[in-house]
Amino acid sequence: MSGALSKLRTLLGHTLAPLGIRYYDLYYGQFSLGIPIAPVDGTATVSRAPADEIARLIRNGDDALRASFERALAIESECWIAKVDGAVAGYTWINRACFDIVGLPAWPLPPGVAYHYQSYVFPAFRGRKVFQSMIAVVYEKLREEGWEIVANFVDTRNAPSIRARKKFGTKLSRTRILKLPAMKPIWLERAFRENP
Ligand SMILES: CC(C)(COP(=O)(O)OP(=O)(O)OC[C@H]1O[C@@H](n2cnc3c(N)ncnc32)[C@H](O)[C@@H]1OP(=O)(O)O)[C@@H](O)C(=O)NCCC(=O)NCCS
Repeated sequence: MSGALSKLRTLLGHTLAPLGIRYYDLYYGQFSLGIPIAPVDGTATVSRAPADEIARLIRNGDDALRASFERALAIESECWIAKVDGAVAGYTWINRACFDIVGLPAWPLPPGVAYHYQSYVFPAFRGRKVFQSMIAVVYEKLREEGWEIVANFVDTRNAPSIRARKKFGTKLSRTRILKLPAMKPIWLERAFRENP
């Protein structure tokens, strides 16, 4: 998408969201968990987030982080964190039962599919493979549990995330969704059969 179009989409998004109208232009990513995933060579140590670390992130975060964490916990998502030199550099979530995208109702995952979402790396740590380190650890954990596929969504404008996903060999397919107030999501372009 060209810079001007991308800016227009962002502007329209900000204008329409308060009216309850949302437009999603996404890639749906699917990664096959067939073979072991090697750890990423980087500085981050990735582990399951303990409850006190989640509480600390919520306490120190803004309203958007608070809302997203509370929602993730309500649907029994699992939080993982990456640390660099002892400091939390980023976090990521997995869910084993449902897809969840901000502004849409959660909907069930197909059999054998786990969902990886809501990843964030604090700006000071970006570009140092923290995200890729989290992906490698979380995917390997899901593979060991016996999941066949890990799925995710990424905004088509999110270059670093797309690059990181592609480096792992994630298959990306375009999907577009329109959400109007009091209506079910409308799939304008669909990458897979399941519907929210
Ligand atoms: C997306 C995000 C998680 C990436 O975290 P990160 O730790 O910086 O990512 P990584 O370093 O592991 O990988 C990013 C890759 O994209 C590259 N990259 C960075 N900016 C880029 C850009 N503008 N265009 C193309 N590639 C870019 C990096 O060089 C790196 O590739 P490399 O390993 O070949 O050098 C982080 O930018 C972020 O938190 N963004 C805000 C929230 C978000 O978008 N979350 C993802 C939702 S799917």
